[in-house]
Amino acid sequence: MGGREANVVLLDENGIRSDGRKVNETRKVTIKAGVLKNANGSAYIEFGGNKILAGVFGPRDVHPKHMSNPDTGILRVRYHMEPFSVGERKKPAPSRREIEISKVIKEALEPAVMLENFPRTAVDVFLEVLQADGGTRCAALDAASVALADAGIPMRDIVCACAAGKAGDALILDVNNEEDQAGQADMPIGYMPNLGKITLLQLDGVLTPDEYKKCIELGLEGCKQVYEIQKNALREKYFSSSDNN
Ligand code: CDP
Repeated sequence: MGGREANVVLLDENGIRSDGRKVNETRKVTIKAGVLKNANGSAYIEFGGNKILAGVFGPRDVHPKHMSNPDTGILRVRYHMEPFSVGERKKPAPSRREIEISKVIKEALEPAVMLENFPRTAVDVFLEVLQADGGTRCAALDAASVALADAGIPMRDIVCACAAGKAGDALILDVNNEEDQAGQADMPIGYMPNLGKITLLQLDGVLTPDEYKKCIELGLEGCKQVYEIQKNALREKYFSSSDNN
């Protein structure tokens, strides 16, 4: 949440948002699985103005070896923003924000990935944000799940993610950059629909207890829509007759 400037009109008198969406509408989401030849699994997502590439390697040997666990595999996630991905050039060095997002995405994925099948190994997930427009952690998590499945790594479920929030005094689905900066709340959610488990839940801003519950419900609706798009991306790669890579 930025300055929450009162002058920005985020919702007009007809309940339409600044980018033309209704309050319960997500931005356009497209996902393509298997876009990188040299990764074990990969995916490219466009989530509104967000453009993110995910590459997965492993399960593979862990270096340094002392980081490995004899009882289970480990998951490592690196979320990185390209310097050109935002309006004001981002310094290439990892920021505190990127370290935090890498950590929350890793923790959101861990319950889904059957790491116990691969003791002493690591699965590495690289997330490159090429263009950011609010909600990159959710979009990156969506791409990471598809890339992990594309790598053939056994999973309990696909983790799907979408944010809900509050802007112009209304609860909204899928918060864009402008709404994130000038709105009242942003709540990214990661969800495993088959297992009915939430694996990511953050809240930046202020909500009443009632709004909090409604925001989760709204966010889960968005997650479920993304879930269908994730599954279709995998179906398209593995069940279509076209030549992939
Ligand atoms: O991207 P997400 O909403 O998960 O994380 P955030 O920290 O709430 O950032 C919101 C948005 O701020 C990003 O999606 C970018 O569009 C923008 N941002 C930026 O313009 N410059 C940065 N150095 C970091 C973020």
